Amino acid sequence: MEHIEIRETMPEDAEKLIAYLKKVGAETDNLTFGKEGLSVTVEQEKAYLTQVHEEQRSVHYSVWKEGELIADGSLSGLPRRMSHYAELGLSVIKEQWNQGIGGRLLDELIAYARQASIEIIRLEVRSDNAGAIHLYEKYGFKRVGMIPGYFKINDTYVDFVMMCLDLRG
Ligand SMILES: CC(C)(COP(=O)(O)OP(=O)(O)OC[C@H]1O[C@@H](n2cnc3c(N)ncnc32)[C@H](O)[C@@H]1OP(=O)(O)O)[C@@H](O)C(=O)NCCC(=O)NCCS
Repeated sequence: MEHIEIRETMPEDAEKLIAYLKKVGAETDNLTFGKEGLSVTVEQEKAYLTQVHEEQRSVHYSVWKEGELIADGSLSGLPRRMSHYAELGLSVIKEQWNQGIGGRLLDELIAYARQASIEIIRLEVRSDNAGAIHLYEKYGFKRVGMIPGYFKINDTYVDFVMMCLDLRG
């Protein structure tokens, strides 16, 4: 793999992250947003990244190649009686798919989860997203349920699979 750097995303990366999310959202219908990205301001994104940086059970990583943000991955710790759980998110720009970047991000996220005493990682993935499901299963995630019609894109419903990686014991 060409030289890439994986590091925690910091508040000063907010502008690049917003632009990245618009790009990746335009390239795939597998994410919760499209070409509009998250529709947040730079200040809102900075505040989000500051909060994630400060929360022990949440983290946001970004992958950089020649100064360009090409992938991201996150864990969002859940509150209260679910605080042993974190929700995982993952995306890579299309021209970099199938080069091991998603796998490297999963390595980092799972290592982070272990040191943060997160016991179960949860995610939802489109049931037709064969590449992502293959990748998650390779890392030990198990299919634990179906979520009917979780996305509605232009009046078309898309079913999802819920997957968990149980790090207990
Ligand atoms: C899913 C995603 C993050 C994977 O990132 P990536 O960098 O391509 O992942 P990797 O290269 O590490 O691994 C991809 C694996 O899927 C496999 N794969 C790709 N397409 C596949 C398909 N149609 N069926 C089965 N396996 C497939 C690859 O062969 C590879 O497995 P291998 O290492 O065992 O050969 C990336 O495709 C992406 O961002 N997609 C759009 C957003 C998305 O779907 N995010 C996940 C939301 S839950």
